[in-house]
Amino acid sequence: MTGRTIDRMATEKYGPSEDAIRAALATVNDPEIHRPITELGMVKSVGIAADGSVAVAVYLTVAGCPMRDRITSMVTEAVERVEGVTGVTVELDVMSDEQRRELAASLRGGQTEREVPFAKPGSLTRVYAVASGKGGVGKSSVTVNLAAAMAADGLKVGVVDADIYGHSVPRMLGADGRPTQVENMIMPPSANGVKVISIGMFTPGNAPVVWRGPMLHRALQQFLADVYWGDLDVLLLDLPPGTGDIAISVAQLVPNAEILVVTTPQQAAAEVAERAGSIAVQTHQKIVGVVENMSGLPCPHCDEMVDVFGTGGGRLVADGLSRTTGTTVPVLGSIPIDVRLREGGDEGKPVVLSDPDSPAGSALRAIAGKLGGRQRGLSGMSLGITPRNKF
Ligand SMILES: Nc1ncnc2c1ncn2[C@@H]1O[C@H](COP(=O)(O)OP(=O)(O)OP(=O)(O)O)[C@@H](O)[C@H]1O
Ligand SMILES: [Mg+2]
Repeated sequence: MTGRTIDRMATEKYGPSEDAIRAALATVNDPEIHRPITELGMVKSVGIAADGSVAVAVYLTVAGCPMRDRITSMVTEAVERVEGVTGVTVELDVMSDEQRRELAASLRGGQTEREVPFAKPGSLTRVYAVASGKGGVGKSSVTVNLAAAMAADGLKVGVVDADIYGHSVPRMLGADGRPTQVENMIMPPSANGVKVISIGMFTPGNAPVVWRGPMLHRALQQFLADVYWGDLDVLLLDLPPGTGDIAISVAQLVPNAEILVVTTPQQAAAEVAERAGSIAVQTHQKIVGVVENMSGLPCPHCDEMVDVFGTGGGRLVADGLSRTTGTTVPVLGSIPIDVRLREGGDEGKPVVLSDPDSPAGSALRAIAGKLGGRQRGLSGMSLGITPRNKF
């Protein structure tokens, strides 16, 4: 008899059973969702060796999950209590986008909310939420220019002006049409090839909107669920500055939205931007990258750049967010100060179209190329083919 056979017999006789281990794991609740990790699809595998040692692999909902140590020790303690267990090792992995969507769908299960098409599993629309800590750093300018540049590249693009108090997107994009209603769907106007919806289209004149959290949430839900967007390649959400209610609503309504952080090169602005970005860790959203805006003014009389707002903010934010999230957050580009960009915004003609080769126009087009060119939805999705065995 070989040693291995003896071991197997010993396990069969004395070792812990997989059922007992899984029952122990069912007593471990995810610290944030407060449901057993077995129900949340977080147990990747359970391995039991002949000597009674147990290896458990656990999926975290996001990379750099702040709860990783806590989950490891809770799993270890629960499994150690099972009779016959001589040791426990815990290996951590991270859920794919698809697994996270399934988890979110199962958590939403039973509720009769209208569906947001972009949050559905299998949606091929990339959703970017443009965020910043401070106001006035250029979020809306970046949003409309990226949208217009992607549309000019042939992509189907939509923009939601989610800055309900300070809506400025329709003007910057030159969208002066009103939305029309068909049955219970709202048809968004479009301008410069971009479909756009904004609360500004529903209020008479320039009337300010005074709403509290729940109404903001409902407005955003309508924009996402009741507006007929058709098949979009990219949806951009222009968020209000800071880390308020709308950022949380976006995370709830479109959990797969990726955050694009805009900052100026200034140190103080960068620190605030980093805080705005790190909310993504709590809402389990991915940060696609950082855009540094107003980074230098090309001197009109020489070749030098004048660093009006200091330097290095974009890199500072990207490094800080990389540390917080445990992923690599890139600086996607730097946009210089350019009077043509401001004029384009005031006139409703984005600089990427009116002056595509200006320094700001080409910087924005390069960022749009990076974001628009990314494929979405293929990782973690079944291609309906079976790989051939390698061996
Ligand atoms: N790179 C730039 N060069 C010149 N002007 C710029 C640049 N970026 C933004 N601006 C101008 O700065 C002002 C603020 O920009 P914008 O409205 O896009 O910022 P925001 O972050 O959306 O502001 P808010 O927080 O109020 O929503 C606008 O007048 C805009 O035209
Ligand atoms: Mg804005």
